[in-house]
Amino acid sequence: MSAAPPARNRIAVMHGVNLDQLGRRPAAHYGSLTLMQLEARVADWGAELDLAVQFFQTNHEGQFVEELHRLEDTVDGLILNPGAWTHYSWAIRDALEIAGLPAIEVHLSDVHAREEWRRTSVIRDLCVATVAGRGPDGYRDALARLREELAR
Ligand code: DQA
Repeated sequence: MSAAPPARNRIAVMHGVNLDQLGRRPAAHYGSLTLMQLEARVADWGAELDLAVQFFQTNHEGQFVEELHRLEDTVDGLILNPGAWTHYSWAIRDALEIAGLPAIEVHLSDVHAREEWRRTSVIRDLCVATVAGRGPDGYRDALARLREELAR
């Protein structure tokens, strides 16, 4: 009898430009948690769901792209909040396509109910789902959704 295949439970949570400034951004849109506090919550939710979660944040687009290049062999799925890059970075879109991993797009704020330019997402059609406007809880929703996807 062969051993059961390893569970697909390794998740990268990637934050892009200005997300390191959570805690000092407009609370009405982003709440009051710092990125460290948000990541601690996401790690707890991940553990509850038996997911091994790793985190990454950068304000440099090329570093975000290079991290996406590296992920293929190290994780099974991806949650990403690229911040403002979401709305215009074709480079990040192309790198996400190269990564070829199931991905969920998350935004703390309700990007559909804000300025017109935030309604565009250049990554949306590459993602299994988009979660927006749920604050930190959106990451729990995304983890649960990704877990379902990885169990298929
Ligand atoms: C954001 C929404 C973006 O429009 C904005 O540029 C951000 C954060 C969010 O989480 O709501 O930096 O991605």
